[in-house]
This record gives sequence, C-alpha cells and structure tokens, in this order.
Amino acid sequence: MKVYLKKGHVKPVWLGHPWVFAQSVDKTDSQVGKDFVATVYDPRGNYVGWGFVSPNSSIRVRIASRYDPPTSLEEYFYGSIKKAFNFRKNNLNLPSVHTNVYRLVNSEGDGLPGLIVDIYDKVAVIQIDTLPIFTHRDVLARVVRDVVGVDTVFFLDKRPPNEGERVYEGFELAYGEKVDELIFKEHDLSYTVPLDVAQKSGFYIDQRENRLFIRNFVNSRKVLDLCCYVGGFMLNALYSNASLVVGLDRNPRVLQSAYSNVKLNGFYDNFALVEGSFKSDLNRLLTKYTPFDVVIFDPPGIGKKRYSLNAAVSLYQTSVSRILELLAEDAVLVVCSCSYLIGKDELFEAVAAAASKFSKIVSLYYLGSQASCHLTPLVFNEGRYLSCVFCRISRW
Ligand SMILES: C[S@@+](CC[C@H](N)C(=O)[O-])C[C@H]1O[C@@H](n2cnc3c(N)ncnc32)[C@H](O)[C@@H]1O
Repeated sequence: MKVYLKKGHVKPVWLGHPWVFAQSVDKTDSQVGKDFVATVYDPRGNYVGWGFVSPNSSIRVRIASRYDPPTSLEEYFYGSIKKAFNFRKNNLNLPSVHTNVYRLVNSEGDGLPGLIVDIYDKVAVIQIDTLPIFTHRDVLARVVRDVVGVDTVFFLDKRPPNEGERVYEGFELAYGEKVDELIFKEHDLSYTVPLDVAQKSGFYIDQRENRLFIRNFVNSRKVLDLCCYVGGFMLNALYSNASLVVGLDRNPRVLQSAYSNVKLNGFYDNFALVEGSFKSDLNRLLTKYTPFDVVIFDPPGIGKKRYSLNAAVSLYQTSVSRILELLAEDAVLVVCSCSYLIGKDELFEAVAAAASKFSKIVSLYYLGSQASCHLTPLVFNEGRYLSCVFCRISRW
C-alpha cells in the first residue's frame, strides 16, 4: 500500500516524528495488505519512509524507518530487537548483576511502533498497542525469545481494547512455562510481583532511575511513599537507612506485595504500610507519623485527556497542599506525573501555587524522567510521558 501525504503535512515526519494522522493522508493507492505495511510519500511522490497502518485509528500510519521497506518483516523484527538488546547492553549496562529488569523495546524509540517488551530476568512480557503489531505477534514473541534467551514469553494487557487497535485483554502465554509472579532485581533490591496485582507489564520500570536518585537524600530521614504500589521507593529509602518509611496506597493487594518485598530484602523495622487514599485520608491516617522530611507523590495517571487538563492541575494543587501540611520545616518533595499532558511546567505551576499559600519557597534541584531504557525519538514529545520533579521546600 502507498500512502501520499497532504501538502503541509510532511515536515513533522521529515523531522523524525513517527506518526501520520488520518487527516494528513491525501490518498492511498490500494487497501492495506495482510502485513499492514505501507510506504509513505510526500505530495511530489518522494519516498518518506515505511510503517505500519492502523486502518481504524486516527494515527493512521506509524513510521518504522526512513530506509527502504524490508524484504522480510521477520528479518526487520530480528534486526531491530537485536539492536535494541545490544544498545541496552553496551550503553546502559542492562541487564547486570545489580539489575535484571528493564525495557527491551520501547515502541517508536526502537523502530517498532506499537510494541513494548519488558524483561524481568528470565521472563519477557509483551504489550501491544496496535492492530498491525498484534497481527505479527507470534513472530515477534519468537524473535524476543531467541534474541534475549528468556525462558518464558507472554502477552499481558490489562487495559480494555480500544478503537480497534488493542484487540485483546489479559494474559496469553507464548513460550515456556506459565508464571504467576515476576521475580527480579533492581539496583540490588529483590522484588516479587504477583501477576494479579501487576500494573503496566508488572512493575513501573520507568521510575528506576528516580528510585535510585532518592538514595542521595533519605538517610536518617522520615519518608512518605504516597501511592507506593509494591514498595519501589520505600525499599530504596530503607536501603539508604531512612529512619522511618511509610507507604500509602489504596489497593490492599499491592500493600501485601509491598510488605512481602520489604521482608524479602531483610528489612524488619522502621516501616509502616497504610491503606488509604491520597485524596481523602492523608491527615486522618498519617498524623501519627508526621512531620515527614521526604514525601514522594507518584499518583496514577492524572490528566490523560486534554479536556481534563485543568481539573488535573487542580487535583495536583490540592493534593500538594495537603502534603505540605505533613512536611517538616526543611523538606524534600518529589512529585511525579505519568501523563505527557501534565509535564514539568504543569507540575511546577501546581506545586508553586500550593506552596505560596503556606509561605514556602520551592526550589527545583533535579528533574527526572522515564528510565533511560525507554528510548524516545527526540521530536516525539508524546512518548516522553514521565516527569518527576524533585524540590526543596523551605520557609520563605
Ligand atoms: C504510578 S503507581 C506508583 C508506582 C510506584 N511509585 C513505583 O515506583 O512502583 C500508582 C499507585 O497509586 C495507587 N492509587 C491509585 N489511586 C490512589 C489513591 N486515590 N490513593 C492512594 N493510592 C492510589 C495505585 O494502586 C498504584 O499502586
């Protein structure tokens, strides 16, 4: 299939943006074939690149490469996954004896738009975002197994299917023995995550480097991990000798898992796990531990849609106001957003507005993002979704 772009719609693709929207398509020469592959041309007929077609999506083509289309898709998959594997090995030291959990393939960032592959030691978990990648999933699973040498490969997606793109939901084994839990190591800390509590592909791999960064300042301090999931930030705080670490989450199953992970790493004291919501329970549940020297606030996706942007900024602002009431005189606040619509600027606005009411000055000292194994094309802002703002909060 050949896809011709409209005049005025070529530049983003030339600059490296991988998405061709339906409204940018002028005409096509045929129906898409069974491989869901198209070559893309500018209005003068110059070749722009090739990619995967999603016939029912507003993102009509996702460009995989500007080179000539491959004669064998299987070879392309093998080459791209091998390149992704080598990049992590040679540039990021992943996997290593310290860390065996990482993202092997990050969709557009690895020339495989629609495909996510996360590695948990000997297990590969595949998430598929698009119909074309779904149709190639058997060969992709085989290539992942062969390149990485994992024992088990499975598909996992807990999101509901949408727009005719994600056509499956749940768990499906591709290779090896079925597993009920993911067992892995991140920065010398051990984790077990049962699949029934798994969010995303199992773990928030994207926060790896931010979790490591807190080791710089938690020693001998009281730390609150708000929305703690299976205990990622908590474990790093305990590892770095925090005097007390409190984890709060509204999901009792993830709290059980956090408890097991704390014990698994040999921490028996100086921690508490609290079930509750950051929206309504902070003061009621946490007063007995206050004041905190460090608070990490990593809520679930807030503001994923443009129409909910203002409401999202104001939810951050009210939440931060409540958190400020729990803080010690000089404290560190870490605020995260996993929506690309709520980026660093929106977080700055929300935190500064909340702090001004308390006569506090907020100084930014580190800006974290998604872990480096989440490669993203430079001009593809939509793919850079995680912001993690580290601030010092002091009296003004
Ligand atoms: C983005 S995850 C946190 C990831 C974690 N920081 C890590 O590094 O693994 C968000 C967590 O927020 C929890 N959550 C969702 N709504 C909540 C609420 N209203 N109050 C408290 N926790 C909530 C979810 O159960 C989930 O565990």
